[in-house]
Parts: sequence; C-alpha cells; structure tokens
Amino acid sequence: MSDSTDVRKGLVGVIADRTAVSKVNVETNSLLYRGYPVQELAAMCDFEDVVYLLWNGDLPSPEERARVAAIEHAHRDLGDRLRGVIQRLPDDSHPMDVVRTAVSVLGGEDPTAWSHDPDEIRDKALILIAKVPAVVAYIQRHRRGLPEIAPREDLGYAANFLWMTFGEEPPEVVRKAFDVSMTLYAEHSFNASTFTARVVASTLSDYYSAVVAAIGALKGPLHGGANEAVMRTFDEIGSAANVGPWLDDALAERRKIMGFGHRVYKRGDSRVPTMKAALDTLVDHYGRDDIADLYDALETEFVSRKGIYPNLDYPSGPAYHLMGFDTELFTPLFVAARIAGWTAHVQEQLASNTLIRPLSLYDGPAERHIEGYVADAAARQAQTRQEEPAG
Ligand code: COA
Repeated sequence: MSDSTDVRKGLVGVIADRTAVSKVNVETNSLLYRGYPVQELAAMCDFEDVVYLLWNGDLPSPEERARVAAIEHAHRDLGDRLRGVIQRLPDDSHPMDVVRTAVSVLGGEDPTAWSHDPDEIRDKALILIAKVPAVVAYIQRHRRGLPEIAPREDLGYAANFLWMTFGEEPPEVVRKAFDVSMTLYAEHSFNASTFTARVVASTLSDYYSAVVAAIGALKGPLHGGANEAVMRTFDEIGSAANVGPWLDDALAERRKIMGFGHRVYKRGDSRVPTMKAALDTLVDHYGRDDIADLYDALETEFVSRKGIYPNLDYPSGPAYHLMGFDTELFTPLFVAARIAGWTAHVQEQLASNTLIRPLSLYDGPAERHIEGYVADAAARQAQTRQEEPAG
C-alpha cells in the first residue's frame, strides 16, 4: 500500500457485501423490503407482517402469522429478573442505556444464547420484539411516577405497545401512525447499526452481542439519536416565526441541523413522505398546527438555503412527541423497530459468513526503537539531577 492508495474514510461508496434483505435505490428514491415497496407495506400491512417478511423472505400466511403472534404475545411481560435489573439502574440513566442493558440481561439468561441455528435466532429475536416494548413502556411510566401496566392478549403489537405505555387503547389514527413508523424504521440496508451487528455476527459471537453493539451504534446523534435531537431542535426554536433567525445562528456556528441529510439519499429520503403523511394525521387528531407550521418552516428554509433534505427522523421525532412519548424515548422506539432488520442481517451474515476485517493505511511515526527512549530518559534524569539545588 502506498500513500496514493484510495482510502474510503467512513467507507463512503464501498459495497461491503451482497444482501437480499432490502434495496435502497437512490435514483428512484425508493426502498424495497424483500422486493416490496416500503410505502405499500406501511399502508397495507402491520409491523408483525413486516418482521416476518424480513426474517423469512415472504409475507406470512394467516397460520404463520398466528403462530408468530402467539410467541410474541407470550413474552410481552417484563419479567421479574429484568425488572429487578432495570430498577437497580440510576433513575436518570438514558433510556437507550437501559434498553441496551435489558438486551444484555436477556442474553445472559438464555442458555442457548450461543446458538447460530436460524430458527433459534428467529425465536430469540421474537422475544426481543416482545420485550423491548415492555422495557420502553416501563421506563416511560416510571419517569412519570406511574405503575406498570400488564400487556393485553387481545391487542396487536402497536396497540399493545401504546397500551402498556399510556394505559389507554389508542385511537386507530394513533395506532396506525405508530405502526407505520415501526415499519419505516424496521430496515435500511447497511446503515451503521446494521453493519455493526454484521461485524459482531461475523466473529461468530452470539446474537444478543450483535444487538447490544447495534444499539450502541444507533444511539449516536448522526444515526438513530437524530429523532431525539430533532425534537430538541423544535423545542429550541419554539415556533415557526423563529426559524429564520435560529437558522442564521445555527449555520453561522456550523451546527448540523438534525433530521436533515443522509449518507445515501442526497435528493430526499424515500420514507419521509409516508411518515410525513402519518404525522399530518396526528397533527389533525391532536389539533397541533403549531407543530406542522414549525416543521414546514424549518424544512422550507433549510432546503432552500442548503439543498439538504429531511430524513426519516425529521417527521418521526414530532410524531412520537404528539403521541405522548418523552423525547429520550424516541431512539428506544427506533430500537424496537430495527431489531427486525438487525436480525435479518445477522441471519444473512451467518448463512454465508466471512469475518469482516478491513485494512487501514498507516500514517503514524516511522519505525523507531526503545533504545532511543531509554537514552532520552537517562539524559532527562541527568539534566534534572544537575538542576536540583545542592543539599
Ligand atoms: N446540517 C448541516 N449541514 C449538513 C447536514 C445537516 N444536517 N448534513 C450534511 N451537511 C453538510 C455537511 O456539513 C457537509 O458540508 P461541508 O462539505 O461544507 O463540510 C456536507 O453537507 C456533507 O455532509 P456529510 O456529513 O459529510 O455527509 P455524510 O454523508 O457523511 O453524512 C449524515 C450524513 C446523516 C451524517 C449528515 O447528513 C448529518 O449529520 N445529518 C444530521 C444527523 C441526522 O439527521 N442523522 C440521521 C441520519 S438518517
């Protein structure tokens, strides 16, 4: 390797492997899960169907759907050990740290955690799909000094998630918007957290370790943490009228405007129109035109000044706010959904594994030897002795 070797910092533009899980098409601004446009899945399927599709390659038959739902329903409660560990964490732990710890606990108590059998990985993943909502709901209620609420057998995934969090059966418009967000967040090819999961799986480590590492990657504000950051931006700006002056200052300080920009999409994120439509239904339902006005004003102003478009976190942040989630819970909601994609990729990685281990171009000091360090140290010591005052 020479200095002229092409170094792809951030792996920009590098195709690291093949995948059959999803296809991001930048030219057409489209996203396919196992061949299906994500917009169609969001409109016509529930998150449970999407999970099945991502893991099995096809949408479920009614019997398959019922079998999977039965396993998911059976694991919706928090469980004493997990509750105990969560209760021992400081009250001000970030919810992402709590969720990451919870997945570690579930791995620690699974005697077959090491299994790489695809069916067993699917079962483990289904338990995580069921448990993470219980963890998120517990955190949200605990922060508000409210008691835990038991899961409901008769509700689907999204309705039960909202039931356990808020103690009310959600109106259909809210359930649908939440379910749409879960579907849109479920999978997105080789994003940073999915690639992290694949790196861990490629060492033949266990499934839970891959998910824990992926949660760590997702937490960062350049990735999943952006939905939380969008809401903080909205809080900071306050109202549509303040967007112009706020943006002047933010751009002068060279701040990143959260919820805008994408490594792959440069002319808009394929998922945004669907999530924006879901946000609009929530704005109508809750009568919060102020949020819609701020949303539109910031988008219009930023796109016209920088030509950088919103990503999925831009509409999902305010949508989760309107549903009633605390801002710090937004990224854990992303975790709940993306477990689906991480699992599909771990399975794919294991089915045709090669250890992921790239190269680097060294640009540190030239070769040198300890002899020089020893000689320098001796010289420094002699110098110090000479400078010490006598007596
Ligand atoms: N706000 C302000 N400037 C932005 C920006 C944003 N949200 N996104 C990109 N840019 C600017 C960069 O500052 C850079 O400008 P420069 O060339 O003058 O230095 C240029 O656009 C290229 O951006 P870069 O960060 O190098 O692109 P990337 O492909 O590495 O980054 C993101 C993609 C997502 C990391 C980046 O757009 C970002 O930080 N967005 C905000 C966080 C976010 O919403 N993340 C969720 C992603 S789904």
